[in-house]
Amino acid sequence: ASDRPRSADWAIPFGAAIRDWPFQNEPAYRSALIAHCRQIVGEGGLKWADIRPTRESFVFDQPDRHMAFARQNGMEMRGHTLVWYGAMPEWTKTIGSSTEAERELVGHIETVMGRYRGRIKSWDVINEPIPDDPASRSDIRPSIWQQRMGEAHIALALRTAARIDPQAQLVMNEYDIEYVGDRFRRKREAFLRLIRDLKLRNTPLHAIGLQGHLRGEVAIDRDGLSAFIAEIRSMGLDVLVTELDVIDNKLPGPPDLRDAMAAARAYDFLQAIQTVARPKAILTWGITDKYTWVPLWFKRTDGLANRPLPFDEAYQPKLLMRVIEHFA
Ligand code: XIL
Repeated sequence: ASDRPRSADWAIPFGAAIRDWPFQNEPAYRSALIAHCRQIVGEGGLKWADIRPTRESFVFDQPDRHMAFARQNGMEMRGHTLVWYGAMPEWTKTIGSSTEAERELVGHIETVMGRYRGRIKSWDVINEPIPDDPASRSDIRPSIWQQRMGEAHIALALRTAARIDPQAQLVMNEYDIEYVGDRFRRKREAFLRLIRDLKLRNTPLHAIGLQGHLRGEVAIDRDGLSAFIAEIRSMGLDVLVTELDVIDNKLPGPPDLRDAMAAARAYDFLQAIQTVARPKAILTWGITDKYTWVPLWFKRTDGLANRPLPFDEAYQPKLLMRVIEHFA
């Protein structure tokens, strides 16, 4: 029927990150999600700072709202995220010993994953474990967990997640591994080293999430990315695109030209993946240019708005959506 979302029959489910304010206040925003998405993921809401304002409390209002919306509209909701260096509440700095850190991390995963067991079927258990400029292949990004427990916290989190919801797809997510350049090659290698080590020890881990916050001005290392995907597949892991958008602060002015370049960048990215494996899902980090994290970090200096997402501020589809459709 014509009122079914256009993406309903795509081989790869398409989804987007959901932001709570427009979700609650702007009907057009909700309509766009309903019209185009088979999956959603909270842009926030399940992050530690949101869900654990104090050590004693868990605040589930926002993820519960998003879950109800997903269920009403026949969508899957992904979980983002259980272990991340970012969005940590202040109180976690007082976690003192490795024993205390272990107890907090395990307890958190038990409570949060347990609440959504059987309903959130895919979790970003580990988010952004590799530093931007890794000093060696064994470099792990600093966080309270890394400081207190070392790299063992990653396997601990994955094992706990598998125990709490044995059916859930457990994902480790990373960004900046798809470009041409020495720093990005080293990040890719450090990420692969971690993945291999986890698999060697039979750690439960089912898929790798490529965030895909693509930099408009940096070329995709297609061969490097394809080789990376081939390695992942040879270890039996699936691939997801979890946070696609095109960071366009360094792309030149005219919006239509920028949209074309952004679409081409996403094309290179998805094509290099697709030549090796079909991603299990493609999600963008937002649905409309009206609500995107990009200007918070990568604001343009020419006064024009960023255009990182598949729909413009008036909810009209852009070339980027055509590219996603082409691969989905
Ligand atoms: C971002 C959100 O989009 C922002 O609203 C928030 O202020 C900061 O976090 N990689 C991730 C996401 O894994 O969690 C980040 O989300 C964007 C980069």
